[in-house]
Amino acid sequence: MKKITTKIKHFQYFYPYPAAIVGAQSGNKINYMACAWHTALSFNPPLFGVCISKKRRTHEIISEAREFTVNFISIDKVKLSAQMGRISGHTIDKIKEFQVKLSPSRVIKSPVIDEAYVSMECKVIDIKALGDHDLFIGEVLAVHEEEKSFNEDGTLNTRHILPLCYLGGDFYITINPDSLKHVVPD
Ligand SMILES: Cc1cc2nc3c(=O)[nH]c(=O)nc-3n(C[C@H](O)[C@H](O)[C@H](O)COP(=O)(O)O)c2cc1C
Repeated sequence: MKKITTKIKHFQYFYPYPAAIVGAQSGNKINYMACAWHTALSFNPPLFGVCISKKRRTHEIISEAREFTVNFISIDKVKLSAQMGRISGHTIDKIKEFQVKLSPSRVIKSPVIDEAYVSMECKVIDIKALGDHDLFIGEVLAVHEEEKSFNEDGTLNTRHILPLCYLGGDFYITINPDSLKHVVPD
């Protein structure tokens, strides 16, 4: 028996999300936040979207900078997600306060996060207003990969990286590499 509801309250926590750290620099303003609502959007050109509430300091800075970086971290760096995702840059300088280590990007001005196993440099090509969030669509201009993080075919090397996944609230989980299956149709 399934429970059916038409008063939609919770619909966003049905599955674990890979948690990213997304942010940008505009002049001397720099800020990053945890972001679960993100997706690849196109192969050619390579497009990646991040969905950000209008209330976020990150929204303000990406809108100004017209660029952003998307940084994926492993489960052992979970504290960074809590720091970036539970405190707003409207009230403190998170980068300074939490001593977040950054590295210069290759193409854009906004830096990438050192602790990430992969980071993308994106240039904003469009912003779609969607309810209380905006979808920032970025063209991926450069990718920074930590050695051994990916297999030849571009899939995650799960023997090396245990990605940070977000369940909702303050709960995180990762994958079990032993559950890996390579499946082809009969
Ligand atoms: C794991 C995690 C994922 C989140 N995903 C999003 C998201 O996709 N979009 C969003 O607007 N806020 C998201 N948030 C909330 C922001 O990260 C949070 O409000 C943060 O403090 C905003 O920081 P800022 O004001 O410095 O930009 C998420 C929070 C956490 C903990």
